[in-house]
Formats: sequence, C-alpha cells, structure tokens
Amino acid sequence: MKNLTIIDHPLIQHKLTYLRDKRTDHMQFRLLTKELTSFMLYEVMADYPLKEIVIETPLMPAKAKVLAREISLVLILRAGLGMLDGLLQLVPEARVGHIGLYRNENTLEPVQYYAKLPTNIAETDVILVDPMLATGGSAASAATIVKKAGAQNIKFVCMVAAPEGLDRLSASHPDVAIYAAALDERLNEHGYILPGLGDAGDRLFGTK
Ligand code: PRP
Ligand code: URA
Repeated sequence: MKNLTIIDHPLIQHKLTYLRDKRTDHMQFRLLTKELTSFMLYEVMADYPLKEIVIETPLMPAKAKVLAREISLVLILRAGLGMLDGLLQLVPEARVGHIGLYRNENTLEPVQYYAKLPTNIAETDVILVDPMLATGGSAASAATIVKKAGAQNIKFVCMVAAPEGLDRLSASHPDVAIYAAALDERLNEHGYILPGLGDAGDRLFGTK
C-alpha cells in the first residue's frame, strides 16, 4: 500500500519552487529548507493525538490539552540536518536521533556509517526526515534501523519524492506514513530525481 500524502499548501509550493531553482545559493537554500520543513511539520501533525491535563491559569484550575506522546525526530545525515531547525521550531522539546547514510555511487545502495538514537525511542512517535526520497534505499534502511530500536509509529517526511522511492519505501515499510511536498517524474541514470532540486546535501552545505 502506498501511504503518501502530498502537502500542497500554497506557501509550501511557493517555497519549493525557489528551492528547486538553480540560482538559489546555499544560504537561501538553508533558509528555505528550514521554513518549508516547519510548514510541512505543521501539516503532518494536524491529526496528532492530544491528552488532557489540569493546569492553573492565573484565575482558576483548567483542563487543557497537550501532545499525547513524546516525539523523536530522526535525521538521515547529511541532508536531513538541514531540516532540524525547522522541526525544532515547532517541537523544541523533541529528542533527536541521527542516522548516517551515504549512497554508494555505483550501486546507489545506502552505506551506514553512524547511528545514535534516543534510548527511549520505543515509547515515542518517530518523525524520520530526509529532504530527498530518490531510490528509497536510504529511507527504507533508516526505517529498519529505527524499528530495530523499538520504534513502532513512524512518519517519513521529505521535500521531494520520486515514484521509484515511494514504491520501495511503501513496499518495505507499508506501515510508515510518507509525506512530501512534491512527487516528481522519475530518476535519471545516476539516481537523481527529475526535475528535483539537485544534490540536497551539497546545496545545503555549499560543498559543490
Ligand atoms: C542523499 C539524500 C538522501 C539520499 C536519497 O544523500 O540526502 O539521503 O541521497 O537517495 P536514495 O533515496 O536513493 O537513498 P547522499 O547519499 O547524497 O548523502 P549526503 O546527504 O551525505 O550528501
Ligand atoms: N539525493 C539528492 O540529494 N538528490 C537527488 O535527486 C537524489 C538523491
């Protein structure tokens, strides 16, 4: 089952256009990534469960609502780092995990070089992020890693997805809800998304 939600709020689509534009430099790219991620998370959490607590206002006790469960944000390095500030702006109390993966240039399969996750991840809801879902290898591996650590409720948030990556992630993890700002046309022979936005890590960090 393909569990994809395209978040097509006008502000998200507007910012995505400038993110794609090759004239956007790394400083603007970082800012746009942060803003876009915040807007996306706002939409992703629209149906998040709440629980009731009792607080004291300056006038009287009152029943009030807070998020029902703790959240772990898990970033796929390196490009997922660019999404952290935008996420923390909305959920500053979240715990943060990191999974280091890079794509082997020949096979396009992910190679893991790092993982550090919150020790209580099994009791939290996981929001796994990477700007790009291309072949889907990185997202599928990262979902396997967080599941091995005990996570059960996982949402994957990316900015641009390719149909190939959507198919792979949905097939390997049908329980993971996938959110993207756009579903693009296809991958090229080097595994880049078309039309895409190029290499998200390089554009974020100015490394090329
Ligand atoms: C990019 C991107 C994703 C991955 C997506 O990372 O940030 O992690 O490729 O491709 P996939 O869906 O085919 O796995 P990259 O391997 O370039 O590493 P980097 O973020 O360190 O630059
Ligand atoms: N990784 C990227 O950063 N961009 C793509 O188009 C594919 C993988």
